[in-house]
Amino acid sequence: MPLLEIKSLQLEFGTGDKALRAVDGVNLTVEAGETLCLVGESGCGKSVTALSIARLVPTPPAHYPAGEILLNGRDVLKMDKRELRSIRGGVVSYIFQEPGASLNPVFRVGSQIKEALKLHRPEVATDAEVARLLKLVGIAAAESRMRDYPHQMSGGMQQRIMIAMAIATHPKLLVADEPTTALDVTIQAQILDLLLDLKQRLGMALLLITHNLGIVGNIADRVAVMYAGQVVETANAKELLRRPLHPYTKALMNAVPKTGARAERLQAIPGMVPTLGNFPSGCRFHPRCPKVQADCREKIPSLVEVEAGRGARCPYWQTP
Ligand SMILES: Nc1ncnc2c1ncn2[C@@H]1O[C@H](COP(=O)(O)OP(=O)(O)O)[C@@H](O)[C@H]1O
Ligand SMILES: [Mg+2]
Repeated sequence: MPLLEIKSLQLEFGTGDKALRAVDGVNLTVEAGETLCLVGESGCGKSVTALSIARLVPTPPAHYPAGEILLNGRDVLKMDKRELRSIRGGVVSYIFQEPGASLNPVFRVGSQIKEALKLHRPEVATDAEVARLLKLVGIAAAESRMRDYPHQMSGGMQQRIMIAMAIATHPKLLVADEPTTALDVTIQAQILDLLLDLKQRLGMALLLITHNLGIVGNIADRVAVMYAGQVVETANAKELLRRPLHPYTKALMNAVPKTGARAERLQAIPGMVPTLGNFPSGCRFHPRCPKVQADCREKIPSLVEVEAGRGARCPYWQTP
């Protein structure tokens, strides 16, 4: 049984005629200890999909018309409040883009880590365990740094604190939602190395979300590419990078900043991700697709297994 299995998930905001579908039939699997990268431009539905795993999208305004999110075989969409509290942190932990926004400015970082311990491993809610965790995330002089307030730390250090807090509870799955997007380019690589190292040492699975296909090479086992609320391509990471099949994946590859260039918000794909309620007919990518064919405007493509372990939502994936 996979650690996480998302099946035909639909998520909508609002109700009735005004309902807007942000996630439309997403299937994702994460095996224990595996790294899956979820890739796509801003607004494609990556965060709401990932937040749904621990039911962190407020309902209302959201609701789930269909689908299952099986965590260790149990559907989180059917869990009561008590069970949800125990999986949050206990099975799945999160880190986000802005570490500064997730830390409480008025408490020392050590006491914030201790709070996370009190909830899930109360027997080790001690300074010694906090110091051990800080060392694990590469913070030197842990005993003195745990008495710092968040504002006394750089963005990279704050993200290390968030990672310490996330792993303090021994989760089986760490969800990292654009964990390096707000950081300096040199720090980005350090944080990714740290995540990879911790994943291996602690035997966690990692769901890494990014808009930058350039960072998946060293870290991902598999990749799922999302566009406008749907998965458009899934593959083993090496194969996907070597030979992307979906025109959107190819466009994302071309948008990766070259080594040494400053990592900026990528603008290289012409046009924009359609907003909710404004998805085009047929293939949702067709207005931006350089390979668009006449029937792409009407025919809705499904995600088809085009090769063993590879899926693509484009009937023209073989067209050069
Ligand atoms: N609380 C909300 N209410 C309405 N729409 C939302 C809400 N949260 C996200 N959305 C919409 O859902 C879509 C997917 O958002 P998100 O998952 O944040 O995208 P990504 O993480 O890929 O950038 C976007 O169109 C966004 O505007
Ligand atoms: Mg997001």
